[in-house]
Amino acid sequence: MTNDAPIGIYDSGLGGLTVWREVRRALPGESLLYLGDGKNCPYGSRPREEVCALADAAVERLVAEGCKLVVVACNTATAAAIDFLRGKYAPMPIVGMEPAVKPACLATRSGVVGVLATERSLDGELFRRTAERYGRGVEVVTAPGRGFVELVESDSERTPEAEACVRAAVAEMLARGADQIVLGCTHYPFLLPVLERVVAGRGVTIVDPSPAVARRVVQLLDAGDLRAAADHVPAYGFLTFADEAYRRKLEAKAFR
Ligand code: DGL
Repeated sequence: MTNDAPIGIYDSGLGGLTVWREVRRALPGESLLYLGDGKNCPYGSRPREEVCALADAAVERLVAEGCKLVVVACNTATAAAIDFLRGKYAPMPIVGMEPAVKPACLATRSGVVGVLATERSLDGELFRRTAERYGRGVEVVTAPGRGFVELVESDSERTPEAEACVRAAVAEMLARGADQIVLGCTHYPFLLPVLERVVAGRGVTIVDPSPAVARRVVQLLDAGDLRAAADHVPAYGFLTFADEAYRRKLEAKAFR
């Protein structure tokens, strides 16, 4: 493994590309290798053990490809497997998704924070611990983004159906007065234009943790002296456990 080795970024499907974009922006000199499972997506309502095994297979593949650091750009896989993965693949640094409950709780003025995530993430230990630690004195209203992942996977983010799903998911948090909505699934930022339209005029801030995850990657590269050489020409690779058509879809969506 050399410093010019790629950073691996993994998700159940297309969602982690929202993190890929931020990592690329923060680290334009680094090669990136994206693995979007695709074959087993969505992960959101699968049992924890199954998600853990899927995440293990994905990280193993990225390690076999020579990655120097891996980003688990999937909240569901992070919640199910991050401790296991860090133990198994140590000392390779692994960055997971943190539900951005902390910044939202610090920023709320209404005292109500909404969190959208998959069912598996919301009932996981990681979310419970984060909400307990930072949510004191704040009402945290959660809702699964029903249908969101399927909409993004089928390139249907700009349809009336997408708007109906988004309206249904945020109705209760808005009714309770949420002024912050945390996106706890990496697929959801693809629905930002619809979400912004739905909450327009209500003084709601939408919190996407991807830029913070990219900053964490920068910190870890610097701490481990792992930055690519100044003359390295970055390459962008795309892998999947689905088929070649899906791999091409990943690539196309990344650069769109
Ligand atoms: N993008 C993923 C997440 O951040 C998983 C979505 C899914 O496969 O259900 O949770």
